[in-house]
Amino acid sequence: MQFTVAIDGPAAAGKGTISRAVAAHFGFAHLDTGLLYRAVGAKGGDPVAAARALNDADLSRDDLRTLAAGQAASRVAVIPEVRAALVEFQRSFARREGGAVLDGRDIGTVICPGAEVKLFVTASPEVRARRRWLEVGGDEALVLAEVIERDKRDAERATAPLRPAADAVLLDTTELSIDAAVHKAIEAIEKRMEQGRA
Ligand code: C5P
Repeated sequence: MQFTVAIDGPAAAGKGTISRAVAAHFGFAHLDTGLLYRAVGAKGGDPVAAARALNDADLSRDDLRTLAAGQAASRVAVIPEVRAALVEFQRSFARREGGAVLDGRDIGTVICPGAEVKLFVTASPEVRARRRWLEVGGDEALVLAEVIERDKRDAERATAPLRPAADAVLLDTTELSIDAAVHKAIEAIEKRMEQGRA
């Protein structure tokens, strides 16, 4: 069985948590596509060459979750050749047997426009910054500035900008607990599965 769930949205909206929970619930594989861009940004040197040669060791570095790695990722993510080098890996992951969940910025719009389910997960910038700050610590105002700067760059770039697919289900997690957000995501997927069976 092939079944793709595309989960997009801005930084720290809860995509990762929701994706992992949804993948565990349905027994699907999960790919955090942000990690690919973080690994390219962290590698240094020519980002296009880095994207073309990305390997498992690059993806297992332990410094990919920092604010600096997020910023470096969003800078290399504006380069069309970097994005092009990562397309095939993501598409073949999406079509693997047994179902797949991919989270990122352009999964529903560019990587998997035919995904069976598309979710666009958002939350207010303040709530997202608070969640990220609880993970990384430091100065909360700086974390908020980082989140806003990264969203702006991701939304305004010419290639594969951050935006919801026309047929995406919008999920605003500002006022939702993790459990409630996961529950809504699972409901949207089950609804789609039932339609597929009908
Ligand atoms: O999701 P995460 O915060 O790890 O993503 C880091 C950065 O990688 C994003 O800010 C964005 O610039 C880039 N990215 C992207 N397309 C994706 C996933 C991430 O451009 N599908």
